[in-house]
Amino acid sequence: MAIEGRSPPSRRFLAATLIAYCAFFLMIACCRATPAQDRKVYIAYMGNCPKTQASLPALHFGLLQRIIGNAKVASDSLIYSYHRTFNGFAARLTEAEHQKLSAYEGVVSVFPNKIAKLHTTRSWDFIRYPKNASTSTRRQQSNLIIGVLDTGIWPESPSFDDSGYGPPPKKFKGRCQSSSNFSCNNKIIGARFYNVAGDYGPGDIPSPRDSDGHGSHTASTAAGNFVTPANLYGIANGTARGGVPAARIAVYKICWAFGCSYDDIMKAFDDACSDGIDMVSLSAGGLAMEYFRDPIAIGAFHCMKKGILTSNSAGNDGPFPGSVSNNSPWSLTVAANTIDRKLTTNVKLGNGEIYNGTSLNSFVSNKSMSPIIYGGDAPNKTAGYEGNVSRYCYSGSLDRNLVQGKIVYCEFAGQGDGPIEAGAAGAIMGNNPQGDVAFPYLLPVSLLNETDGSKVLTYSNSTSDPTAVIYKTVDYLDGSSPYVLYFSSRGPNPITPDILKPDLTGPGVNILAAWSQGTTMTGLPGDERVVAYNIISGTSMSCPHATGAAAYVKSLHRTWSPAAIKSALMTTGAHVTMEIYQH
Ligand SMILES: *[C@@H]1O[C@H](CO)[C@@H](O)[C@H](O)[C@H]1NC(C)=O
Ligand SMILES: *[C@@H]1O[C@H](CO)[C@@H](O)[C@H](O)[C@H]1NC(C)=O
Ligand SMILES: *[C@@H]1O[C@H](CO)[C@@H](O)[C@H](O)[C@H]1NC(C)=O
Ligand SMILES: *[C@@H]1O[C@H](CO)[C@@H](O)[C@H](O)[C@H]1NC(C)=O
Ligand SMILES: *[C@@H]1O[C@H](CO)[C@@H](O)[C@H](O)[C@H]1NC(C)=O
Ligand SMILES: *[C@@H]1O[C@H](CO)[C@@H](O)[C@H](O)[C@H]1NC(C)=O
Ligand SMILES: *[C@@H]1O[C@H](CO)[C@@H](O)[C@H](O)[C@H]1NC(C)=O
Ligand SMILES: *[C@@H]1O[C@H](CO)[C@@H](O)[C@H](O)[C@H]1NC(C)=O
Ligand SMILES: *[C@@H]1O[C@H](CO)[C@@H](O)[C@H](O)[C@H]1NC(C)=O
Repeated sequence: MAIEGRSPPSRRFLAATLIAYCAFFLMIACCRATPAQDRKVYIAYMGNCPKTQASLPALHFGLLQRIIGNAKVASDSLIYSYHRTFNGFAARLTEAEHQKLSAYEGVVSVFPNKIAKLHTTRSWDFIRYPKNASTSTRRQQSNLIIGVLDTGIWPESPSFDDSGYGPPPKKFKGRCQSSSNFSCNNKIIGARFYNVAGDYGPGDIPSPRDSDGHGSHTASTAAGNFVTPANLYGIANGTARGGVPAARIAVYKICWAFGCSYDDIMKAFDDACSDGIDMVSLSAGGLAMEYFRDPIAIGAFHCMKKGILTSNSAGNDGPFPGSVSNNSPWSLTVAANTIDRKLTTNVKLGNGEIYNGTSLNSFVSNKSMSPIIYGGDAPNKTAGYEGNVSRYCYSGSLDRNLVQGKIVYCEFAGQGDGPIEAGAAGAIMGNNPQGDVAFPYLLPVSLLNETDGSKVLTYSNSTSDPTAVIYKTVDYLDGSSPYVLYFSSRGPNPITPDILKPDLTGPGVNILAAWSQGTTMTGLPGDERVVAYNIISGTSMSCPHATGAAAYVKSLHRTWSPAAIKSALMTTGAHVTMEIYQH
């Protein structure tokens, strides 16, 4: 529900609400023949908005009424009318009504509503992006508007400060769904939220405010201000900036605790590409679908027709062939690569050996050394565990009396809940198959590869008082970049194999960008680390890098079509990569 210009409800409003409620219950009473639970949400796509049509919403309602045969039920069933950028609607239908509607002339496709998921700064320096934007560049950029379809935004972040920005470009026709706790500024010039099902989970805020962090991260990567210093507990300290730091941002919040619903995504596209934006950035996706049944492909198509390029994440379902999503030929599909800033969480043993591990460890050890215990030597026997299970440190398998205050060695890279429950001071996890992506934990953790892990185990088993310390994560430069990560979804394009996908790759590993202060570093229960900047990985992060790069091209070539911008990026990207390898 919109909460624009919220004011105290008048008596007339209350009376109207009461009548509406009564009507609602009456309707339920008289429509028992088709109970609501037999109806599912479908999206009907009807192509372009006709040039001469008085009211598309009225047309949609009329069509539904003919299908359903009852005006009241039809009105109750209509969820969204899409009428600004393309023609279509979302409605609750029975299977029979769905069949009937699919056969209607003018209806291109009818497909079930589904849930898409999020594809969870130094990076710009890495791809040699100019830092010193001239005044004229700033002026060109400040006329650009990036539409970010995501989890909303944290407007108080310095990345979105509007000092020095003039009023919004006149071409912008979007709205700011402000509430008591959210308002736009001259940087965030528009903001709306879409949750037509009213499905608010724990932590969800019914406003454009970001309670997840993902949307603030992607928006600041595409178009955040220069912010110095930006770091996560000192890690990756430097200047954070977006691809087009002077551009404006229009926020369309479509993702919630439950995910991102197709009907909401379609409405956000319908609004965004008629609001006067220049570029769409969307770091989420569902299963690969035929384009007429893919809300993101449909939205991106009609945006493209209006000269607006959509940049999409390829997905994190790699490295399997054909795992790429967001495959439409008219969108930019972005894979994820490493950057030259690597993170390491070093482990030092009592014998002086140091091992380079992986994780995002914000904790500083207060002790120079702590005792180590092997998980396999500390099973919770009263709970029925043997060493052959507790060696993996699964939840509930460790004996608190043995593990408390010690660093536990685990033969599995889990989430750390077993060690936390047993009061461990930290955990060293062996058998880490990859050393690139750093994940945060609620206790000091370092993930070692099999070789290094077995050395730690041998040490701890061969010494009477084995000890270790897990250091805070540090960053360093590493020339072996860029390469595409294992998690990045791979082609070929499962829908149109003749069209190569992904289109290009961008930085998507251990990216520092703005975060929501309405959550914590991990969002996990028990985490108290509220942070202004966070480090996360995924094609979700590479997508806004491509958005920023595309917007940068557009700021210099205002008349270029989405295809021209895409081509410019795809044909110069290879050159940039080669140049980096040569240095
Ligand atoms: C940015 O700096 C580089 C070298 O430091 C210079 O060659 C370039 O012209 C500058 N660009 C602008 C827009 O000032
Ligand atoms: C409003 O936002 C502030 C942060 O700016 C937050 O601390 C507070 O809890 C929010 N209040 C509500 C009612 O959401
Ligand atoms: C981060 O870098 C700035 C210089 O850009 C420096 O002043 C600051 O002390 C650094 N902060 C940390 C935590 O390293
Ligand atoms: C990795 O470990 C070695 C010791 O084995 C240490 O000298 C080096 O500094 C570590 N690398 C980084 C990047 O911390
Ligand atoms: C494990 O990591 C170490 C660096 O700490 C490296 O020297 C070694 O080659 C790696 N081994 C494997 C099997 O990846
Ligand atoms: C180290 O001590 C500080 C306060 O003295 C405390 O806040 C912090 O949590 C401690 N760190 C660890 C890893 O226990
Ligand atoms: C662990 O050992 C016990 C007894 O030796 C055996 O019954 C059980 O199957 C083993 N479990 C696993 C996972 O190997
Ligand atoms: C073992 O597990 C049981 C059941 O979860 C728990 O109640 C008990 O405290 C644990 N014992 C130790 C020593 O960790
Ligand atoms: C520890 O050492 C003993 C003998 O010294 C050996 O039997 C046992 O398998 C070792 N355990 C591990 C986990 O390496």
